[in-house]
Amino acid sequence: MKRSILITGGAGFIGSHVVRLFVRKYPDYRIVNLDKLTYAGNLENLRDIENEPNYVFEKADICDFDEVSRIFRQYDIDGVIHLAAESHVDRSIKDPFTFARTNVLGTLSLLQAAKVCWLDSPSVISTKAEGRAEKSRFYHISTDEVYGALEFDGTLFTEETRYDPHSPYSAAKASSDHFVRAFHDTYGLPTLVTNCSNNYGPYQFPEKLIPLFINNIRHRKPLPVYGKGENVRDWLFVEDHARAIDLIFHEGKVGETYNIGGFNEWKNIDLIRVLIRTVDRLLGRPEGADDDLITFVTDRAGHDLRYAIDSTKLKNELGWEPSLQFEEGIERTVRWYLDNQDWMDRVTSGDYQKYYEEMYKGR
Ligand code: NAD
Ligand code: TYD
Repeated sequence: MKRSILITGGAGFIGSHVVRLFVRKYPDYRIVNLDKLTYAGNLENLRDIENEPNYVFEKADICDFDEVSRIFRQYDIDGVIHLAAESHVDRSIKDPFTFARTNVLGTLSLLQAAKVCWLDSPSVISTKAEGRAEKSRFYHISTDEVYGALEFDGTLFTEETRYDPHSPYSAAKASSDHFVRAFHDTYGLPTLVTNCSNNYGPYQFPEKLIPLFINNIRHRKPLPVYGKGENVRDWLFVEDHARAIDLIFHEGKVGETYNIGGFNEWKNIDLIRVLIRTVDRLLGRPEGADDDLITFVTDRAGHDLRYAIDSTKLKNELGWEPSLQFEEGIERTVRWYLDNQDWMDRVTSGDYQKYYEEMYKGR
């Protein structure tokens, strides 16, 4: 194998798209998917590639330093794409400790394992011996939420924007970003960090706005809109994010940070109306049939008003741009959830959590 890459959180939403892209595009790379399979991890997301010869799954917790180190050594890991995290803001408000543990201590455990294997005692793996050290990369996937909230004034988050996280989720992600940069500056670990805007697309856990609302519209259940629905998010199709990750992993400059975003801002309430129209049209329901599902509910505590990413650096330096218009991305996404009701039913019933036992028992 030319390279051996550890992708953490590969059974989650974005991670599964990254794993699929790498397994298919790089048959000469070994792709090791390390995931704890929390409620957010679903191996059914990877059903189409799980038997590929260059794919391996390891059920493990990123906080378990010994287990992470064993995986580094066993597979001779020379690249890390780190996505594993607790990712839902509402859960972080209820249970901040789990977010600090996984997002901060878990990231630290991975950084330390990479440092030990790549820098302190490179002989434990053959990375250095084979001259692959120059290619070692620890790529940490972060979020635009670390930058805090913008006003309705047209400003955008750049790579220079001061960190100002407000939720326990974004505070934990911000902390992990600082640890990654500290390992670069202190030990010379070859790191990269990207901060991306809100993703949407297939295989997203239906606690997040878009899949939750598509499923509710289909079943004519209320749509709980926080506050007045005026908050703005910058939406990017998940496959475009995966493409950016591939490019940055291979061509990004070590030590750098890149923002990734869609230049695609939507007020929640406007986006929700697009979702209602699209679901109704695809199900053959009359226009406006489900507008009355919109239900304004108590606002999320500390709800950030607006996120918007300036990804000019990534475009100028590496030539990346989003490939999909939002209308096309939403159409594809709504169609996918409507066509994959089985997937949704197994997720909402909890049956998806049995898949690991069924598939991996005895392997
Ligand atoms: P997700 O919640 O869908 O998936 C997270 C995955 O991490 C799951 O498979 C889960 O089982 C795994 N995991 C959780 N704790 C773990 C642990 N202790 N050890 C090993 N595995 C563990 O998340 P997502 O939306 O795919 O986000 C992936 C990454 O991208 C996160 O780091 C998130 O902060 C970042 N991000 C997400 C978005 C977005 O819009 N979803 C935007 C920007 C950045
Ligand atoms: P979400 O998908 O949770 O992503 P994030 O909070 O990371 O941006 O939420 C997107 C937006 O939708 C956010 O402004 C909160 C809002 N929202 C609702 O109004 N109702 C809901 O039920 C959910 C889950 C989110």
